[in-house]
Amino acid sequence: MMRTAFAPGRVNLIGEHTDYTGGYVVPMAVHLGTTVEVELGGDEVCLVSNEVDGVVRIPLDRIGAGSVDPGWGRLIAAVVDEVRPAVGVSGTVSTTLPIGAGLSSSAALAVAVALALGDDGAALEVARRCQRAEQRATGVPCGIMDQLASVAGVAGHALLIDCSSLVVAPVPLPDEVSVVAVHSGQARTLVGSEYAERADSCHRAEAMVGPLRHASLSDLASITEPTVRRRARHVVSENERAVQFVDALRAGDLTAAGHLMSASHRSLRDDFAVSTPALDQLVEQLSATAGVYGARLTGAGFGGCAVALCEPGAPVPGWVLRPVAGAGVHPPLR
Ligand code: GLA
Repeated sequence: MMRTAFAPGRVNLIGEHTDYTGGYVVPMAVHLGTTVEVELGGDEVCLVSNEVDGVVRIPLDRIGAGSVDPGWGRLIAAVVDEVRPAVGVSGTVSTTLPIGAGLSSSAALAVAVALALGDDGAALEVARRCQRAEQRATGVPCGIMDQLASVAGVAGHALLIDCSSLVVAPVPLPDEVSVVAVHSGQARTLVGSEYAERADSCHRAEAMVGPLRHASLSDLASITEPTVRRRARHVVSENERAVQFVDALRAGDLTAAGHLMSASHRSLRDDFAVSTPALDQLVEQLSATAGVYGARLTGAGFGGCAVALCEPGAPVPGWVLRPVAGAGVHPPLR
């Protein structure tokens, strides 16, 4: 029997580096994504990719995220370990997502593989399994935004995710707006990046002032270490911006939404220090382009894409992203 799973990537409109302290994020699942097409049977997971070299083989009786060759097989092995399929599969991975560009190519891969392996859990369970798999495969303590956006996407909508309750509220994307991702030309990987260090700073801030999700800017005055205080200031102000952004979208106030995106970029650049000169220059260029309401880096930073909120047809060369439904599998699992 054949099974085909598709998992979308995501673009995060606002709410960056807030998920791992239980804050707010506003991603949307996008039409670019990853397809895993398999034949069921046998006692191993065997996958080849249209984009990268090598054959990934994971015998079901020796599951583990240990040393897997080729490198992209580590994530597959960790997903197999999470899902523990009763029967093997053999097939192909292909993607329309740019890899390592901040549009969640790895979350889309993990989710598509989980579904192809027959994971029939609720959306949140699948997302959690894939998040754990990614953390184990990469050692990066990533939050849940990417995996949850990929499974819980709603066509035509962005998602306001409360990363404390993990409630996902769809927010209609106005017709008169277009979301464009533009690559900075700088590839990035979170492995070995300062992601873990930033997460650690946030947790240190929380040890001093309690959950950042509930902190106000004035609460942060008691943080003695200036760098930690700045990191926390980004998170607290970004949570506020995410909520205000959703209000602006709902009110159709695209100018206000755009200003919030620009403020988010400045905060990521100055307080959280995850931008790069290439991203700053790109965001500046985009912000000065006619028809652009606002622009910011999207995803973890350290390279990858910027996202712009624009009038449809604005002269922004990039991927015009359509919001789509979350990951699915054919034939349906239940
Ligand atoms: C990466 C992580 C997410 C999130 C973003 C930053 O994409 O996987 O969990 O932390 O960075 O907002």
